[in-house]
Amino acid sequence: MTVPEFMSAKKRGVRLTMLTAYDYTLARLLDDAGVDAILVGDSLGMVMQGEPNSLRVTLDEMVYHSRLVARGVRHSLIVSDLPFMTYQVSPQQALENAGRLLKEGGAHAVKLEGGRRSVAAIEAIVGADIPVMGHIGLTPQSVHRLGGFRVQRDQKKLLDDALAIEKAGAFALVVECVPVEMAEKIRDSVKIPAIGIGAGVGCDGQVLVTHDMLGLFNDLKPRFVKKYADVGAAIAEAVDSYCREVREGAFPGPEHSFRS
Ligand code: KIV
Repeated sequence: MTVPEFMSAKKRGVRLTMLTAYDYTLARLLDDAGVDAILVGDSLGMVMQGEPNSLRVTLDEMVYHSRLVARGVRHSLIVSDLPFMTYQVSPQQALENAGRLLKEGGAHAVKLEGGRRSVAAIEAIVGADIPVMGHIGLTPQSVHRLGGFRVQRDQKKLLDDALAIEKAGAFALVVECVPVEMAEKIRDSVKIPAIGIGAGVGCDGQVLVTHDMLGLFNDLKPRFVKKYADVGAAIAEAVDSYCREVREGAFPGPEHSFRS
């Protein structure tokens, strides 16, 4: 999957799929399963690091996790998040840090949050031929200003932000936690793909945090997540069997042992 192919999916009427990964093993599984894009999201602050939000994630951590993911990917487009305070200070800062995600992390594109306020950063990054995915609606790095992870309903702001991001040169945008009708309006107002999360079925594609949809991370239970598997329960069951068999002397068996 290339950036031009990703963009043209909207014209072709093909819905896009995107999921998060933060390491080689999961990236390999997602890539083999045929997901269009893998997002190395700063949601790793919650899912990998156990933080209450994504604010403490650093650029070095994003570079590290992007590199792990890049090793496992053969086909999917790799998009890496610019974390909090790595693109807000100046366009120069945004460009330098986006460059690190491609050069050191192996990402194909970067994602950053914000609409009109992020236009200068997007223009600077795109000006160096680094593809940018925007992110509007509920922007988790704004959690304190927003007063929590809430549905965003200011239709004029959402539309203005989407149009500004497109004009600045973004190749796609994530639309998070907005009412279905507003997401459809955004979809119809921009030519670039609008990838929804908690934004209804009308978007040009969908993204979820993989650990949420696999039942691996249960600290938060957003209403928009569908649990496609309960891998957490499968792990608990497997670990329980392992502990029982070790304690009973049933593992390892002869087939797992060597003889002289
Ligand atoms: O960090 C992340 O995983 C994200 C998705 C929730 C879109 O930004």
